[in-house]
Amino acid sequence: MTTTKVLFVCLGNICRSPLAEALFIKKSKKFKHTFEVDSAGTSDFHVGELPDPRTIQNALEHNLTLKHRARQFKKEDFIRFDHIITMDKSNLENVLKLAQNQEDKDKVKLLRDFDQSHPGADVPDPWFGGDEGFEEVYQIIDHCTQQLFEVLKKNI
Ligand code: 4NP
Repeated sequence: MTTTKVLFVCLGNICRSPLAEALFIKKSKKFKHTFEVDSAGTSDFHVGELPDPRTIQNALEHNLTLKHRARQFKKEDFIRFDHIITMDKSNLENVLKLAQNQEDKDKVKLLRDFDQSHPGADVPDPWFGGDEGFEEVYQIIDHCTQQLFEVLKKNI
């Protein structure tokens, strides 16, 4: 059985993408197929750090424990992963700048393109806002990772 490899990408890798990683793992564990799932940031601002305390707290309220340590996206991720899913269009552009060929580019997609009612939209960056932003982001990512999972399941 082959493994489907999915990488979630945001800017800092401490708010949105570690949450997307954990939610996708939770959903995929109920399914008999091997997924390799990770997350990364396009910046090196928080490399080595745990997620933002507000993201950790919000996730805990949904019974999800986040243990990911931030790392920066690198060119080699195009080789390792089948799907590179970005949280917003700025992350998408920054990842595409590192693509070497069309095959690399074809792996990169916006998470909300999997949400039929919000194609082309960004997952908002909650970093500068209040606590309510973290719950909004949770709801968006929970919904979109489920949609993504349904799409990937069809191709297994
Ligand atoms: P993330 O949020 O991209 O969802 O991890 C951010 C975290 C930190 C910063 C920006 C966005 N920052 O500028 O440090």
